[in-house]
Amino acid sequence: MSALLTVTGLGRRFAGGGLFRRRRVFHAVSDVSFSVPHGGVVGIVGESGCGKSTLARLVLRLIPPSEGSIRFDGQDIRGLKRGELRRLRRRMQLVFQDPYSSIDPRYSVRDALLEPFRVQRLPPAEGDATVAGLLEMVGLSPALARAYPHQLSGGQKQRVGIARALALRPSLVVLDEPTASLDVSVQAQIIGLLDRLRRELGLTYLFISHDLGLVRYFCDRILVMYLGRIVEMLPSGAEPAHPYTRALLDSTFEPDPRRRRHITRLSGEIPSGWDPPPGCAFAARCPRATDLCRHTLPALAPVSGDTASGQQAACHHPLI
Ligand SMILES: Nc1ncnc2c1ncn2[C@@H]1O[C@H](COP(=O)(O)OP(=O)(O)OP(=O)(O)O)[C@@H](O)[C@H]1O
Ligand code: SF4
Ligand SMILES: [Mg+2]
Repeated sequence: MSALLTVTGLGRRFAGGGLFRRRRVFHAVSDVSFSVPHGGVVGIVGESGCGKSTLARLVLRLIPPSEGSIRFDGQDIRGLKRGELRRLRRRMQLVFQDPYSSIDPRYSVRDALLEPFRVQRLPPAEGDATVAGLLEMVGLSPALARAYPHQLSGGQKQRVGIARALALRPSLVVLDEPTASLDVSVQAQIIGLLDRLRRELGLTYLFISHDLGLVRYFCDRILVMYLGRIVEMLPSGAEPAHPYTRALLDSTFEPDPRRRRHITRLSGEIPSGWDPPPGCAFAARCPRATDLCRHTLPALAPVSGDTASGQQAACHHPLI
């Protein structure tokens, strides 16, 4: 499968400090490379603050990268001008954890669903029919078109957020923790809806979550992030090679007692992005850490010489 999105050596630093203090640099995303095939579902997983949302905003060109390149459908999108970026937004969309964080709370559902057309200066063929079609697509009654956000449940709001993201028929949808604030049963319904829409509309997903169990269920391939870097890339069914991925997996719920092993507790502090350590950022929490780990940054490398599955880990002492 050819790649819809290819990211190479992507990095983003944020400047901090004030006028009289030494200017400091926060390393939010460092040297990230990956690709997403047409029609694929790639997951990004990691603890809070590891850079998932920053990476999403970079990929969508909502913020500029400090370095690296982003190719979307064969086109380098790093240097696009304003008008070109606006046209690109028709083809790549973001779904947030809280869909109404990006929608004016005074908007009705109808206003929210028609806004993407206004922003893109595209007249919807028939406003009411377009809104009804979008609501039906996400399993909502067209009667909800006149509702306001406070009249909707969390699941209904997220369905509106998804309908709005799909209004212009994008190819790539970046889903940033789309179910994190929902009850488990509603979460399952939204995941089912996303799966159906992907198949029906031929969508490609970049799915962000802190829940490795959910990512393994929903995605074909997984990128594991730690302190702004990808520490492992693996097919969703593969055994982890990186101790951090293993620890994340062990801290997710595993109903089958035969599979509960290698229990590693994720304790200890994550180093700061203001002052990343010279070696492996996971060393302070890793039971396998050696002096080599503390002093030398491990590069992503194929696991056990396995190039067929594409599994790679950045670890001096991988588990497999
Ligand atoms: N504009 C900014 N200026 C300075 N630091 C920033 C900025 N945006 C993000 N950061 C920092 O970059 C780091 C990564 O943030 P990001 O929101 O990408 O993490 P995340 O993995 O999405 O976390 P969460 O799971 O909590 O959503 C955080 O420590 C955050 O404070
Ligand atoms: S490089 Fe060393 S400290 Fe880092 S994850 Fe691997 S074994 Fe642990
Ligand atoms: Mg985030």
